[in-house]
Amino acid sequence: MTITFHLNGEEVVLKDLDPAATLLDFLREERGLTGTKEGCNEGDCGACTVMVSDKAGSKPLNSCILFLPQLNGKSIRTVEGASDADGTLHPVQEAMISHHGSQCGFCTPGFVMSMVTAHKNGASDHDVQLAGNLCRCTGYAPIIRAAEAAATAPVPQWIASDPLPATEAAAAPADMLPHSAEALAALYLANPEARLVAGATDLGLWVTKGLRELGQMIFLDGCEDLKQIEINDSEIRFGAMVDMNRVRDTLTPLHPSYGEMIRRFASQQVRAAATIGGNIANGSPIGDNPPALIALGAQLHLRQGDNRRTIAIEDFFIDYGKQDRRPGEFVEAVSLPRQPDRLRVYKLSKRFDQDISAVLGAFNITVEDGQVTVARIAFGGLAGTPKRAAHLEAALIGQNWSAATIAAAAPALDRDFTPLSDMRASAEYRLETARSMLSRYFNDLSAASGVSQSVLEVQL
Ligand SMILES: Cc1cc2nc3c(=O)[nH]c(=O)nc-3n(C[C@H](O)[C@H](O)[C@H](O)COP(=O)(O)OP(=O)(O)OC[C@H]3O[C@@H](n4cnc5c(N)ncnc54)[C@H](O)[C@@H]3O)c2cc1C
Ligand code: FES
Ligand code: FES
Repeated sequence: MTITFHLNGEEVVLKDLDPAATLLDFLREERGLTGTKEGCNEGDCGACTVMVSDKAGSKPLNSCILFLPQLNGKSIRTVEGASDADGTLHPVQEAMISHHGSQCGFCTPGFVMSMVTAHKNGASDHDVQLAGNLCRCTGYAPIIRAAEAAATAPVPQWIASDPLPATEAAAAPADMLPHSAEALAALYLANPEARLVAGATDLGLWVTKGLRELGQMIFLDGCEDLKQIEINDSEIRFGAMVDMNRVRDTLTPLHPSYGEMIRRFASQQVRAAATIGGNIANGSPIGDNPPALIALGAQLHLRQGDNRRTIAIEDFFIDYGKQDRRPGEFVEAVSLPRQPDRLRVYKLSKRFDQDISAVLGAFNITVEDGQVTVARIAFGGLAGTPKRAAHLEAALIGQNWSAATIAAAAPALDRDFTPLSDMRASAEYRLETARSMLSRYFNDLSAASGVSQSVLEVQL
């Protein structure tokens, strides 16, 4: 396999590379670019952040869980390339110095590259942009002040005009880098044992933490048609390769609660890589999208060669580690019906930002003439799969929309779920939380209840 990318403005062509090699290892070990740091090596700390640009724009990404083939056709800036070749500092570097944004300095290159990217994109929600960067000694206030101070400075020319590799080289056919869903379908059908790599925010850890061999890998990043979002009067359709930041931007105006949940999905760097298809296909019982998609009545579009089928998304999750996916079949898209917004998604995790859910509840209930007519309720973290609360739904349908109904229906959750205790939460706490989420939904949708709906006590 041959790939081409730009690194700090210089073209790099790599031949016969190990497809499971990470960008971080390449930068530090092959190129001596040791400004990019290794902290956790699992996407959690942001010390390894680099800026990656392509035709769609620039993203901050964690280089520790990026496989080299994911960079084909892209342009990478490391902290060594944040300043100009003549040593002129980037405005965020100047601001980090003048606002005392660095002490030991270990986290600083990662912060700087998140800030360089946010600055280029004109993003001013600094708390959100920097939630994936950990600092253990400076404290965040000086760093946020530096980001604010640099915000009005123009984007330096060397960052604004980052070149992309020649398209012929980037588009060179490669046996593991299909350039369309059509090509992927044929390649995967012929190689059903291969491992599909989307954003690699799960798979990266299999290599860096699990020390696993991934065998043959097929990289989906070149399939531009899988990155499309289609919206019409009846549905919203996300290609499997749409990243979580784009899902957030699309759904926030339509279902604000879904958008807010995604704001708390990992960090800016992970959301910029993680795909909606990967979050569904991995079958995790604590993936954040599936319960919300189930509550919205989403359909999953699967493809095996030229054969396509569409199933209700809840039917995809058969058991822990077992999904309704045939050899050589992949997730092509997920679609959700347009509908009035009654959705609320509640994510419970130990930290507000950058944490996997202990329990995630998604509620979508229709009330007509004071009675519940439709109820779609799903949870993550209560079973081996994301799962609908069928008994709870049945206990609500046909009943008056009242606090008494909620109280009477809540025990049905005990028949729907037998959760496990683990390091995130005990079984009892998970069920208690799920019942509380049901009450919260009632309060959220009952304007007359007068109960405060905000449970977020700490805001910067
Ligand atoms: C620091 C950190 C924080 C995280 N926080 C969260 C969080 O808050 N909430 C959450 O839900 N998750 C979280 N995750 C997990 C991860 O980001 C998500 O599960 C993500 O959506 C996976 O998508 P991906 O594109 O990176 O998948 P990959 O890692 O590329 O793939 C995951 C699996 O899906 C398969 N796959 C991918 N695409 C397809 C397809 N189109 N068809 C068939 N199979 C496919 C792959 O073969 C693999 O088995 C976190 C991860 C990290 C590292
Ligand atoms: S080293 Fe921590 S996110 Fe990459
Ligand atoms: S300056 Fe030391 S970890 Fe941030």
